Amino acid sequence: MIARDGSFVSLWQEMPVYGSLHRAQQDTSYDVAIVGGGITGITTALLLQQAGKRCILVEAENLGFGTTGGTTAHLNTLLDTPYTTIIQNFGTSGAQSVARAAREAVDLIQRHVSTYGIDCGFEEAAAYLFSQDEKQSKELQDIFDASRTVGLAIQYTDSIPLPIPMQKAVRVERQGKFHPLRYVHALAHAFEALGGAILQYAPVTKVTEGDVVLIDAGGKSIRAHNLVYATHTPPGINLLHLRLAPWRSYAMAVTLADGKYPEGLCYDMYDPYHYYRTQVVDGKSYLIAGGEDHKTGHEENTEKRFRTLEAHVRKYFAVESIAYQWSSQYFEPVDGLPYIGNLPMHGNNIYVATGYGGNGMTYSTVAAGILRDLITKQENVYQELFSPSRIKPVAGFTSFMQNNLDVAKNLIGGWFSSEALQDLANLAPGEGKVVEYEGKSIALSRDSEGALHAVSPTCTHMGCHVAWNLAEQSWDCPCHGARYSPDGKVLTGPASADLEVVSLRSAVESNS
Ligand code: FES
Repeated sequence: MIARDGSFVSLWQEMPVYGSLHRAQQDTSYDVAIVGGGITGITTALLLQQAGKRCILVEAENLGFGTTGGTTAHLNTLLDTPYTTIIQNFGTSGAQSVARAAREAVDLIQRHVSTYGIDCGFEEAAAYLFSQDEKQSKELQDIFDASRTVGLAIQYTDSIPLPIPMQKAVRVERQGKFHPLRYVHALAHAFEALGGAILQYAPVTKVTEGDVVLIDAGGKSIRAHNLVYATHTPPGINLLHLRLAPWRSYAMAVTLADGKYPEGLCYDMYDPYHYYRTQVVDGKSYLIAGGEDHKTGHEENTEKRFRTLEAHVRKYFAVESIAYQWSSQYFEPVDGLPYIGNLPMHGNNIYVATGYGGNGMTYSTVAAGILRDLITKQENVYQELFSPSRIKPVAGFTSFMQNNLDVAKNLIGGWFSSEALQDLANLAPGEGKVVEYEGKSIALSRDSEGALHAVSPTCTHMGCHVAWNLAEQSWDCPCHGARYSPDGKVLTGPASADLEVVSLRSAVESNS
């Protein structure tokens, strides 16, 4: 089964880990190295290889380990950031370009499905956005007007395919849905068939930038003329991290006793909003519902979010069983559009794509097209609109960065009594807590087998304190979204170093 950056299993994970067609050569030169084996990395790799570049894709775990394995896979041109906001921030013609880019991305995904004969349950579907009170209806009218302005085929409709009361609703045709990991695996095969190389389980440990970038990954030395960070958020410390907020969203795939699975992609207008769609996997239907989003590391009881979501779904649907539940991370850009292009503060052969908000499937494919054109020196009409260079340098950022790096380097050191810490924290299996002990902060968690894990709560990215995520059994950083396993291993960037492991010794051992 495919592993993911959380303890719950998503609807997509129950398939074998990707099996490479051939082995990547050691010490080989490539035109482009792509770091990150989610939908952005794989699509970018395929488009570049098709364009004649020699590419290698490097993934720290298995393909789909990150958010691609935890998405709910809505393919939209009706975007999460309403066109009202996009028009406000980027003007009418900018917003029209965004809508066109999204349309082309969904079309490209559909073309890939048909060209490569991908069995990923892809279906075109209409999207429905519905209001439930006067205030929402007014907002809906604004979204309708803005969507019309940018060229979306949007119309009011009298009904929605959900048993949920509504006041007004709009419908947009030709959106889509699919099984994201089956799609990604098929693209990976197409990429390898064209001569591309894939390295799984190869965390990048060192990058030396220059005209030729040297990358150490999984014990191999790779040389490449260009490097793409398709890691959801770029590693290291970058201005971009000040412009992206990490959020978590909760999803469940349920079976319905009455078999009334709704057609279409449906969204209410609460903040955070709920989303619904049906997916058939191996002949079995599931209603996927999601919502209850919160900023990463800002919710003490993440398990409660699932229960609130469950109560919401049960209120309207005849839930037979909850087959899967999981949560996943996304990054919200401050101005509403992703950052795609040259990574600020780095050489002009280093690229990034991040900040997709809730539209990762669509924007990943927008990003792949832009990155291909940047690297192959082709003109791309969307390049400027999405460029990370729209972020202006922040005065004093370099010294701010150094200070935070110094904080992140503070080590706890020494031995601590496991009994004393356990008494202090009083943890049930699955729980975690940051405690103060002998003048140090220690992040403690107890696993399902009863073993105690102790790590430093100081995030190795820029020194914020991590918070326990009860639902996914991880330490999550509220600042820029790094996530760690209970024993401190990095699950999600931007951190690239593990949390310091705190040595525990029982009184019995100490006395012997
Ligand atoms: Fe930046 Fe933790 S992710 S400080």
